[in-house]
Amino acid sequence: MLAPDRLKSEQAFHDRQARERSIHFQQSESLVFADDAYLDHETWVRPALQQLGDVRDQTVLDFGCGHGMAAVVLARRGARVTAFDLSHGYLDEARARARANQVHIDFVKADGERLPFADHSFQAIWGCAILHHLDLEKAGPGLLRVLRPGGIAVFCEPWGENPLLNWARQNLPYPGKGRTADEQPLRKSQVDYLRTLFPHVHLQGFQLLSMARRVLGKGRLCTGLDWCDRQLLERVPRLQHFCRYVVLTIQK
Ligand SMILES: C[S@@+](CC[C@H](N)C(=O)[O-])C[C@H]1O[C@@H](n2cnc3c(N)ncnc32)[C@H](O)[C@@H]1O
Repeated sequence: MLAPDRLKSEQAFHDRQARERSIHFQQSESLVFADDAYLDHETWVRPALQQLGDVRDQTVLDFGCGHGMAAVVLARRGARVTAFDLSHGYLDEARARARANQVHIDFVKADGERLPFADHSFQAIWGCAILHHLDLEKAGPGLLRVLRPGGIAVFCEPWGENPLLNWARQNLPYPGKGRTADEQPLRKSQVDYLRTLFPHVHLQGFQLLSMARRVLGKGRLCTGLDWCDRQLLERVPRLQHFCRYVVLTIQK
């Protein structure tokens, strides 16, 4: 698909998704949440956010903010948060969520491949499930430009190096599977490209056996699989290559 069509279809998909979600958020109380609800909704979120360190008084960008929960958590930690997204619908939800949780966030409608921010604007950048929607050869230089020297960027992304998982993604029905036509789990070649731009790019895999939660749901079995994953991934780091998600920690 040509780039402008890709952007249009990404925006239309996410606007539609946001419209479907909006029925659950008619009352502003339903947008109020505790940090733990966001931090524990997937196993990688808490450790990934920890990578940003102390964000108090720092300028932080939520890159592709979607529903804006991360932006709210960062603002509650004292960061000066700017959050952007391509989707008007998601930005509306994120704005309403910031209001309901009584935090100030600067929201911007923008394309992650053409960032409208000045050079070195941010000390830290957070992104969850966003890089794999982008053409990294377009988005990477912008990311490099807006991050301050010495700054850190952390991205949590679906990982596409496990052939069996890729087959399952293509062929099995499971809850919450909706995807845009163009998104593709991140590949090693894209991380290699980021390594040509940034001096430090560190990768950590999450959910090897416990990716079965997608069909099993959360429960005791899943807690057991999480434990097995921690043991396995610590002892045999190469297995991270087959995980469901990765956290990229990028330093400039
Ligand atoms: C899977 S959602 C993730 C949202 C959020 N970060 C989260 O943690 O749930 C992907 C988000 O990326 C946004 N998006 C897709 N392409 C984009 C682009 N080119 N520029 C900015 N945002 C984009 C979508 O509108 C959507 O909100």
